[in-house]
Amino acid sequence: MSERMVIAIDGPAGSGKSTSAKLVAQKLNFLYIDTGAMYRAITFLAIKKNILSDKAKISELAEKTDIELTFENGKTSVKANNIDITEEIRSQVVNENVSDVSKIEEVRAALVKKQQKMGSKDIGVVMEGRDIGTVVFPNADVKIFLTCSIDERTNRRFKEFAEKGKAVSETFVKNNLLERDRIDSTRDISPLMKAPDAVEIDTSDITIEEQVNRILEIIKTTANKKKINLELK
Ligand code: DC
Repeated sequence: MSERMVIAIDGPAGSGKSTSAKLVAQKLNFLYIDTGAMYRAITFLAIKKNILSDKAKISELAEKTDIELTFENGKTSVKANNIDITEEIRSQVVNENVSDVSKIEEVRAALVKKQQKMGSKDIGVVMEGRDIGTVVFPNADVKIFLTCSIDERTNRRFKEFAEKGKAVSETFVKNNLLERDRIDSTRDISPLMKAPDAVEIDTSDITIEEQVNRILEIIKTTANKKKINLELK
């Protein structure tokens, strides 16, 4: 079994974080934690409870909700207080509101605390998000920052929606990505940014296999330097 390492993967929506983080976690037999799913879960619940305009209530929700993330046989699932909301958190209305919910300081504080706890088990962890290398695990062993052109990111998200049979226009998808980029990178608290010691990989023109291989090479190099034993599947 591999020894424990903490791998932080950050970047904007559609840059390939989830796809590569899941595959890297599987190869290393590490935990995979999608922190975006946690912000989405709180957003979904806030919409359902009709409290989107009440920051105090949303913050309380973030503190009190038990969020469970599981990743088994390549599939992730998300439960809030034991109720499965895996599909619901990917809806368009959640896409449109999640960046505003993520700006709330108390929401971030509550979720960061949960993420730090989830990532502090004996097993290694691959955690993806916007602020993992900068705030959640500033001492992560490896920090990756993924980037990708807006057109390719639009293309990827558009295909995902089409595969699920959801009718949205490319322009709509592109505008949502640009708006989320804008809010995520300009917010006051822990905005999306590359940690100074993160390795940047532009995924616009490379395959998923290449992305994963590059990340694994970086992890292997660090493991060698730190004399950490890794066993890859
Ligand atoms: O990774 P994603 O697109 O599912 O994330 C949804 C939103 O959650 C994203 O637009 C900003 C927010 N987020 C965040 O603020 N910090 C994180 N660590 C992860 C996501």
